[in-house]
This record gives sequence, structure tokens and C-alpha cells, in this order.
Amino acid sequence: MTPASKKALCLANIAAFGIICSVLAFFLYFEPPSHLCPPPPTDEENFEGLDLNEKPIVLLWFWPLGVKFDFKACFTYYNIDSCVLTDDRSLYSKAQGVIFFHKNIDWYLRNMPKGPRPAFQKWIWFNVESPKNTKKTPGLENLFNLTLSYRRDADIPVRNELTIRKTDMNDDFVLPKKDKLVCWIVSNNIRATGTAVRERYYHELSKHIKIHVFGRAFTWRRLRYEDYYSTIAGCKFYLSFENSIHRDYITEKVNGPLVAGTVPVVLGPPRENYEQFLPSDAFIHIKDFPDAKSLAEFLLDMKDEAYMRYFEWRKFFTATPHLLSISDEFIQPICLACDHMSRDRDFHVVHDLYKWNSA
Ligand SMILES: *[C@@H]1O[C@H](CO)[C@@H](O)[C@H](O)[C@H]1NC(C)=O
Repeated sequence: MTPASKKALCLANIAAFGIICSVLAFFLYFEPPSHLCPPPPTDEENFEGLDLNEKPIVLLWFWPLGVKFDFKACFTYYNIDSCVLTDDRSLYSKAQGVIFFHKNIDWYLRNMPKGPRPAFQKWIWFNVESPKNTKKTPGLENLFNLTLSYRRDADIPVRNELTIRKTDMNDDFVLPKKDKLVCWIVSNNIRATGTAVRERYYHELSKHIKIHVFGRAFTWRRLRYEDYYSTIAGCKFYLSFENSIHRDYITEKVNGPLVAGTVPVVLGPPRENYEQFLPSDAFIHIKDFPDAKSLAEFLLDMKDEAYMRYFEWRKFFTATPHLLSISDEFIQPICLACDHMSRDRDFHVVHDLYKWNSA
């Protein structure tokens, strides 16, 4: 086809599309539902930018908190290579996905893209903090197409999930040597982030049982990343206390002990919520006990045989270590967004962002 006939065909398509839409609109009392009749692309550039056979371009609008990494990490760590990730804003008009890290969006949206938004383009709202720690920047309703979050009902959920154990893997679990009873690594004690609940519980619990505390919050010393898993492995129990309590907000604080071979004692959403992600016998929930004192007694009195039952799940599942440093923690979500964009061709709009996020 010559470029001229291609253009003619294209225009004819738009015309036909327009007619069909008008007819539909007429029969539907001039109120076509948006999924039947999406707005036709306004200019031809929008068509040219979209080639379904090519890897989609996914633009990272901000480096989360300014922290950069090499996009090759998606392939190295997660075997994901299905989109072209870039931070080059000059590719904006060609990008099929644009990722916006929530914390970086300024209050007046001054640092968001200006100018026309290509019709095929999807904006991805990237937020991994709990609602308590998500600032409600105005003007973000009806702006995004996809959510990238820890929530189970996000378009692109980001979680540390247990995976089904391969049957040919026969290595039996060996319990790491334990020289401490209860440990807690905690770096954040800023009350405004919601930490008061867990601190109160910790203080109550520490009256009845010795707790080894690591990390910046109470000891002014950061635990080195290299020592994270081995430190947890040396403890019989580990306090997986979330900073604030919200549905699905179950973080790497639980994954760490599961990977290390330690029993997590969780403080967070109700047990039922944990059981949507983890076997019921993989963890101890503080609400399984009327108070901190009875939890302490339970931990102190536990016999070896009962303790070993907390590792039965390992026969069926595997826990995967998560990346530890600040510079690494955004890699997985961004790679997952890349992977999603290579498969997602549907029309989406996220209407009430904050209502969804805190429901
Ligand atoms: C994305 O969301 C915007 C804002 O609600 C909407 O105008 C646009 O049509 C949506 N695009 C796609 C491809 O879903």
C-alpha cells in the first residue's frame, strides 16, 4: 500500500467508526456507554505511535524518591524483557504506559506531563505505602488507568508471594541455629506514620519476654543488608509488626522470617487477611491471644515439636528472598508494570483513587 492509500484507508476507518458511534449513540438516547464507543483518536499521530507487534514503551516519569537503577535488572532478577523501559521524557508521545510514583507528584501537579495525552496511553499510579502514609494530593481522580500497589485488587499487584514448591526439589528443611528467642528489626518510629500501635504492643510484650531489637529506630544503628537474613535466622520468633494497619498491607516484614526459617509473629490486619496470602500455620497472630502477656507465655512455653509444626508449609511452598536496599525496592514493581503493559490492551479508568485505596 502506498502511504496515500494507507492514509485514505485510515481516514475511511475513522469515518466508519464515527458513523457506527453516531448510530449507537442515537439508539442509546445519545448516551453511549464509554466502553462501546471510546473517543476516537484525535490525530493521526496517535495511530502511528501504536504498533501492537512491537514491545511497548513504558516511561518512568520520576525515579522513585530520586533513586535510579539499571533497567536491565528486570531481566536479571525477574526474567522480564517484554517492554522497553525508559526514563527519557522525549518518548512521552510514543509511550504506551507512563508510571507515576505517587510520592513524587507535587501538590499542584506541576511536575506532571503537559500537553496532549495520546489516546492509547495508560497512566499507572505507583504507590506501595499504606493509606495512612499516602498523601491525598488533589486532582488525581480520573487521571489514571492502572494501579500498581500492594493491594490484592490492584491492576498490577506487587507482593512477595509464596510459590508452589517444585516436586523434584527434595531438600529437607534444616532449622537454622537459634541463639535468640524474639527479635525485631525496626528502622522507623515516626509516630505520624502510624507506629504508635506496634510500639505500645512491643513495650507491653517486652515486660514479659526478652526482645532483641535491631535497626535505627531504637538503637541508632542500621543493620547492614548483608546481615539481614542471617540475623533473623538466629531468632526463634520475629516480630513482623506493620507500621499501620490496613487490609492487604502485609509487607516484606513477614517475608523476611519466612525466607530465613523463623516464625513470624504478626501485627497487622486480621488473621483472615493473612490467610489469603499465607498458610494458616506459617505464622502467629498477636490477636490469637487476649494480651501480650499470654503471647509471651505461649512463646516461652513452646515445645520443640510444636515449634517445628510452623515449618510444615515448606513441604508445599517456597518463600523467595526480597531485594533489600532502598535502591532495589522499586525494581520489582516497575518490572511488573513493564510485564503488564506488554499484555494489557484493554481500556481502563481509575475513577476514585483514594476511595479505592483506603477501602
Ligand atoms: C485512561 O484514563 C484517562 C483518564 O480517565 C482516559 O481519558 C483515557 O481514555 C484512558 N485511556 C485508556 C487507554 O484506557
